[in-house]
Amino acid sequence: MNIAIIGSGYVGLVTGICLADIGHKVVCVDNDISKIKKLKNLELPIYEPGLEDLLKRNVKKKRLSFSSSVTDASKKAEVIFIAVGTPSKKNGDADLTYVEGAARDIAKGMDSYKVIVEKSTVPAHTGKEIKRAIRLVLHQKHKNKRVKNIDFDVASNPEFLREGSAVTDFMNPDRIVVGVETKKAEKILREVYKPLKARLIITDINSAEIIKHASNSFLATKISFANAISQICDKVGADVLKVVEGMGLDKRIGRDFLSAGVGYGGSCFPKDVDAFVRLSEKVGYDFSLLREVRCINESQKKAFLKLIESHMWILKNKTVGVLGLAFKPNTDDMRSAPSFDIIKSLQKEGAKIKAYDPQAMGNSKKIFSGVKFCKDAYDVAKSADCLVVLTEWDEFSKINFRKIRQLMNNPLVFDGRNMYDRQEMKKLGFEYYGIGINSI
Ligand SMILES: NC(=O)c1ccc[n+]([C@@H]2O[C@H](COP(=O)([O-])OP(=O)(O)OC[C@H]3O[C@@H](n4cnc5c(N)ncnc54)[C@H](O)[C@@H]3O)[C@@H](O)[C@H]2O)c1
Repeated sequence: MNIAIIGSGYVGLVTGICLADIGHKVVCVDNDISKIKKLKNLELPIYEPGLEDLLKRNVKKKRLSFSSSVTDASKKAEVIFIAVGTPSKKNGDADLTYVEGAARDIAKGMDSYKVIVEKSTVPAHTGKEIKRAIRLVLHQKHKNKRVKNIDFDVASNPEFLREGSAVTDFMNPDRIVVGVETKKAEKILREVYKPLKARLIITDINSAEIIKHASNSFLATKISFANAISQICDKVGADVLKVVEGMGLDKRIGRDFLSAGVGYGGSCFPKDVDAFVRLSEKVGYDFSLLREVRCINESQKKAFLKLIESHMWILKNKTVGVLGLAFKPNTDDMRSAPSFDIIKSLQKEGAKIKAYDPQAMGNSKKIFSGVKFCKDAYDVAKSADCLVVLTEWDEFSKINFRKIRQLMNNPLVFDGRNMYDRQEMKKLGFEYYGIGINSI
């Protein structure tokens, strides 16, 4: 099928490249010309494991191309995915400006039937608004140029991939959610995904939109639940690692996303929880549970800072070495990363920050000032008064802590991801603190 993807970010690129790989003819579009230039040179503008090989293979097979014109690309496609950003407004609402812009540009190029698919995460009723935005442009074209009425469908197909394992997630989804209004759109989207042999959930558009917000909010709730438990563990002398293991082995609960740490971040959970709370407010329901999920996430960062302060006493002029900046491992994404708030707070107290991340240094340099960026974990440890672990990169599990201990001013580790074995670290001569394991 001929497919256009509007927005070539983390979701748009993975979707476009993977759809090309399963046999479709795909054009990935972005209005950021520098991104398109890079892609045409077979360079990825993001870090995502496994994606570069697929990019090269599919361009070579002439199934994948790139364009900076939404209107041109949409004209030739039968199915058009909107995968642009939907960031938070100040009041927590999803900002749908880019979605509207994309819908209008698509409509300008429409001269035959199309299915326009929301891939971006959007609140309920966005499908209806996209339809209206497209109709308005078509009506204008019809009036001015006397072109015939053009039939089209809008569908919702939220994305559940995770950065860091996005290609595997896209190719092996637990389910594909498709919200449609007509049998014709359903048939076309079934055809698009046929090669994946995945389970499709067919529903109306509103329900598909809600499935995405409800799923992300539920996962954020699980994380906040584990974080709340970690606070109690520290107070009663229990071990949160054992507690979540004991809970998670219950099939009804499950182990995934039941881990204590410095809180969730990234481009999805914080903004999607905000948007779902706002949508609920607008329709007359106070989603107080989700408001609390958000509060627990914020207080978890504060509790971690308090832990650091309580053991460092004075932070002014002390050197804090930070391991990991990205909001999670295997990505270079720094959007809403907990490292941002934590480093800013430490700097406010006068601490000097040295930091290293395997992939997010480029993006970090754009958002931090006064941070000394290091070449690896050992470089970070040199003359540091403490180490703070903020992202559980696999690389950090292979660190030689004997060497680290010799390099540091003071063998003190605050592990915001519970990466290391507490007893081992003590044996190696470290004062070691984690999350929800500190009073056992
Ligand atoms: N990142 C994730 O892990 C993830 C997972 C599932 C769903 N989502 C959702 O997918 C959507 C996209 O997220 P992302 O992380 O890929 O964002 P992103 O910021 O990485 O990419 C969005 C891209 O859209 C482009 N764009 C904006 N307006 C445009 C327009 N009118 N025409 C053409 N291009 C335009 C931007 O230049 C940018 O490159 C969001 O709604 C997000 O919530 C993200």
